Amino acid sequence: MTPPHRHPLDPLGGEEIRRATALVRAAHDLGAGMMFETVALAEPDKAMVTGFEAGGPCPRAAFVCCFDRTDGRVFEADVDLVAGRVVSWKHVPGVRPRILYDDIELVGRVARADPRFHAALARRGITDIEKVQVDPWSAGNYGLPDEVGRRLCHTFCWYRTEPEDNGYAHPIEGLCAVIDLDRAEVLRIDDYGTAPLPMRERNYAARFQNSFRTDVKPLEIVQPDGPSFTVEGNAILWQKWRVRVGFNAREGLTLHDIAYRDGTRWRPVLHRAALSEMVVPYGHPGGGHFRKNAFDVGEYGIGVLTNSLTLGCDCLGAIRYFDGWLADSRGEPYRIENAICLHEEDAGILWKHTDLFTGKVDVRRARRLVVSSIATVGNYEYGQYWYFHQDGSIQFEMKATGILNTAGIPDGETPRFGSVVSPGVQAHFHQHIFNMRLDMAIDGEANRVVEVDTVALPMGPGNPHGNAFTLKETVLASELGAQREVEFRAARCWRIESSTARNALGRPTAYRLLPLSPVPMLSHPASSVARRAAFMGRQLWVTAFHPDERHAAGRYPNQSAGGDGLPAWTAADRPLVDTDLVVWHSFGLHHIPRPEDFPVQPVVTAGFALHPDGFFDENPALDVPPARSTHSCCVD
Ligand code: CO
Repeated sequence: MTPPHRHPLDPLGGEEIRRATALVRAAHDLGAGMMFETVALAEPDKAMVTGFEAGGPCPRAAFVCCFDRTDGRVFEADVDLVAGRVVSWKHVPGVRPRILYDDIELVGRVARADPRFHAALARRGITDIEKVQVDPWSAGNYGLPDEVGRRLCHTFCWYRTEPEDNGYAHPIEGLCAVIDLDRAEVLRIDDYGTAPLPMRERNYAARFQNSFRTDVKPLEIVQPDGPSFTVEGNAILWQKWRVRVGFNAREGLTLHDIAYRDGTRWRPVLHRAALSEMVVPYGHPGGGHFRKNAFDVGEYGIGVLTNSLTLGCDCLGAIRYFDGWLADSRGEPYRIENAICLHEEDAGILWKHTDLFTGKVDVRRARRLVVSSIATVGNYEYGQYWYFHQDGSIQFEMKATGILNTAGIPDGETPRFGSVVSPGVQAHFHQHIFNMRLDMAIDGEANRVVEVDTVALPMGPGNPHGNAFTLKETVLASELGAQREVEFRAARCWRIESSTARNALGRPTAYRLLPLSPVPMLSHPASSVARRAAFMGRQLWVTAFHPDERHAAGRYPNQSAGGDGLPAWTAADRPLVDTDLVVWHSFGLHHIPRPEDFPVQPVVTAGFALHPDGFFDENPALDVPPARSTHSCCVD
């Protein structure tokens, strides 16, 4: 069923998931109410991974999170799959597991069966209940007394004229059901008052089926000798890069053990990189809309919602796919086929110069290695794209597409907190703020982070012409002082330096983190969402490495009161200089919706770059050969 394991970082296969579940059930059966939130690889410690030799002993361990839906108690287990035993079992008080896949179906079924829900729809003139689309939203934590202690979903509703209709064109305004997931019942119907149901049809796929544009000629990607990468198990070798892919229910795609081959030496850059959390705070204060702020990683699991990708559509060229194995709510394994896509693509020019005096032209074509994965979270799609470049740089791009979340607006009203995208339909202002956890390893584990500001000198004796600017470099010495914001006027960036390695110029080898998509936090610091997603208030956090610190808003953000994750860990103000450290970068999209974002939104992107900064002694891509001109290049 699953291939033999070759590496301790390989994600759990189907048989291993089944075995972990069976071991936990045998030792700690919770009865009929037992639900599995997570069965995933318990990643081995770093020393084990760096010291691992192919064919050597390979630890296999599972982290299991399960809960009892009859009483809401949550448990964590560590399972040794080699020894076949549950190593630890602990009750985690006061937390809520993720919203499970089962809950998504349950929410609609429970709402549609409730007479109060029917009555609220009838007040809006809607009687055909089967046409009502009920979207499950995380409930957040607003201290409402009747919600305390329950595992909840909040809902928003739309109307579909037929099963494949775009329901987001027909928002049923003001109607929210609060669902108790464990009791499978409606806790409360919140009716905030209605707006006319907008009925203009806004389907996107079929609209032009008889009149598609006709001037799109075939564009084929041809790699006659195959791609330039090789894959063994989950390890990828491409040009001088080495990277290992992983996959889990929560983070989806994870990258491990990223290193660059310099001569005969593998030089580590990152130990691990993964999306640690994200939040989408909406800016409408009224109705039930103030509750809209999904933590799609921690509350739903972006891995659970990962697409099976399709050749020629999602990915083009010579593609290698990786499947993802997950556990369902009973702890049974299932496979997401083609969950991760690997390919290489042309990336424009790498470098070029024309000699002014001789006219000699030197140019090299760039290509990049792309590791990607796409998740559908309700109305939205998020595509994670990692790019590895020949010049030693790494880029991350989040591609956001899908359908805007909509609300109704009475005819003739001008929205204050949203944009009208169709008659009677508004899309509220919102942000998508991501946090990437970057477990850095620049030439080894001992690193430091330096904040680099560019400062203009005052005009005066040292700067008589007023043109001078220089650098101000500050070592971020401990965690509280390493919670930093971007600074436009200083063109601020952060350099992650090796504490031990020097380049030929005598400087510490380093990579530079470029914050390409900073987003200002607009939620009030005292708001529920800002307390729960404190990460969004700073573009940079740095922590001393601890293996349990993986999620920026804590392990259990669903319905949390806040304070977990980065703010809790950094309260200790651990020292950061010349130690094993983790960089957490918040970035995202500030989304004031446009009519062009509807009825389906073209991809918009947010991301960041890691550029070598003295990691090499010169441009490392001088050895890229000139392109063979095998293709015609001119059009008459
Ligand atoms: Co958006």
